[in-house]
Amino acid sequence: MGKYEEMFDYVKEILSEYDLHGGAAKHKIDYSRFDHIKRVYRWMLELYEALEDKQEIDIDALRIATIFHDCGYGNIEEEPHAQTGARICREYLEEQGYEQKRIEFICNLVAQHSDKKLLQTDIPMELVLLMEADLLDDTGAQGVVMDVWMEAKEENATLDSIRDHIKRYSVCLAEKNPMRTKKGKEIWTEKRRIVTEFFEAYCHDLEAEA
Ligand SMILES: [Fe+2]
Ligand SMILES: [Fe+2]
Repeated sequence: MGKYEEMFDYVKEILSEYDLHGGAAKHKIDYSRFDHIKRVYRWMLELYEALEDKQEIDIDALRIATIFHDCGYGNIEEEPHAQTGARICREYLEEQGYEQKRIEFICNLVAQHSDKKLLQTDIPMELVLLMEADLLDDTGAQGVVMDVWMEAKEENATLDSIRDHIKRYSVCLAEKNPMRTKKGKEIWTEKRRIVTEFFEAYCHDLEAEA
C-alpha cells in the first residue's frame, strides 16, 4: 500500500465514529466527511494539473494536508476542527519520522484551511489550492442536490420551500467567485452557470396561474 493510501485509511478510521452518525455538522442528511475529503483530494489534483507553474508546488505536502484537512471533525465540541486536524496530522507525521520543518509546513496548511478570507492574501500556493479544492466540493450541481436533500428533511417541506432553499444557498453562493487560480475561476463560472440555469428552469416549472 502506498503512503497516501495509508494516510487515507488512517483518516477514515479517525472519522469512522463521526461519519457513522451522519456527519453531525451537516445536520439531518447522511453526509460522510471522509467522502468529502476524497472529493476535495480529486479537485485538488485537477487544480494542480492545470497550473502552469506546478513545479513550484510542494505536491507531497499538499497531498498530505488535503488528506488530513478535515480529520478533526470528531472533536468540534472542544475546538475548531482545523486545529484538531493539525494536531492529529502532526502526531502522525512525527510518528513517521518527518522532519520538523516539513511537519510545520504541512500542519500550517491544515490549521489555516478554514480561514477562506486568506485566499486572496499572500499565502503559499499549496494553501490556495487546498482552499479552492475545499470550496469546490458541495457546490454547483452537488450543492443544489444537497439543498434539496436538506430541505426535504424539514417538516412541511414543499416544492416552493425547496426553491427558496436553493436560492438562499447555492444561488447566493454562486454569485461571488472566491477562486484565485485560472482553473479554479473557470470551474466556478461553470458551476454558477449550471446552478443559475437549473434554478431559473425550476422557478419556471413552479409558476402557476393565479
Ligand atoms: Fe474544513
Ligand atoms: Fe473540507
